[in-house]
Amino acid sequence: MMMQGKKVIITGAASGIGLAAVRKFAGAGARVFGLDRKPDIASIGDDILNVTGICCDLTDISQIKTTLDGFLDDGNVDVLVNNAGINPSPSSLTDTSEALWQRLLDTNLTAIYRLTKAVMMHMQCGSIINISSILALSGANRNAAYATTKGAIISLTRAMARDHGPAIRVNCVCPGAVETEMFEEYLSRCEDPVRERKRICETLPLQRLGKPEDIAEAVFFLTSGSASWITGQVLVVDGGDSA
Ligand SMILES: NC(=O)c1ccc[n+]([C@@H]2O[C@H](COP(=O)([O-])OP(=O)(O)OC[C@H]3O[C@@H](n4cnc5c(N)ncnc54)[C@H](O)[C@@H]3O)[C@@H](O)[C@H]2O)c1
Repeated sequence: MMMQGKKVIITGAASGIGLAAVRKFAGAGARVFGLDRKPDIASIGDDILNVTGICCDLTDISQIKTTLDGFLDDGNVDVLVNNAGINPSPSSLTDTSEALWQRLLDTNLTAIYRLTKAVMMHMQCGSIINISSILALSGANRNAAYATTKGAIISLTRAMARDHGPAIRVNCVCPGAVETEMFEEYLSRCEDPVRERKRICETLPLQRLGKPEDIAEAVFFLTSGSASWITGQVLVVDGGDSA
């Protein structure tokens, strides 16, 4: 059990990539705390051993404080996975309202700043993984605010790696198209979702969409001893999309 006795916090744990990461770390023996704004996160421990689900809206600093006070003891937090994110109505800059811009910044970026700062008070040594996106690297049509938040996550990762080594390693994973609720939402906005899914698969060198587990494996690797000399890096996991 590679992660036996390790304390791991994962955000956006109720579905998709976050849930797959919860399963991966718990399966390796870690004590996992899964945070999500969805109330059904509270029952995640019914199905998965060693997991505590906590309902917390990460855009609300008071909820973050109450949450951490509720479960963090004096022990070290070994891993933090900042995974929660949204992309509700992708648009170009000119079509993005200030309210939407602010909501994306709050959820995808400022929440990471707030939670990470609070968790690091309990992390003498460990590993932090931030989930960005290939849209931070490639530029994407009608995704100005989302891509901006994901690009900033890469910059934050690099800055933190320099500030907090050697005790704390900070890395970033950029997923491509992964079959989750977020991706289904994207497809539902397309004129022909079936055709769009097929089109994406056909353009990928690996000819299939990502599974949440593909990303969870990459996250797990970066937090493991096998990655002990890796920090400040961006690992792209996209079926070859950016090749
Ligand atoms: N699915 C993809 O194709 C894809 C591609 C690139 C990057 N990503 C990124 O991967 C991460 C996970 O996305 P996913 O695809 O698993 O989507 P998902 O919608 O299945 O999961 C996201 C989770 O984050 C939670 N969340 C959102 N806002 C929150 C908040 N304020 N407080 C607490 N929890 C909150 C949601 O409730 C949800 O459970 C996101 O950061 C996303 O931007 C996804």
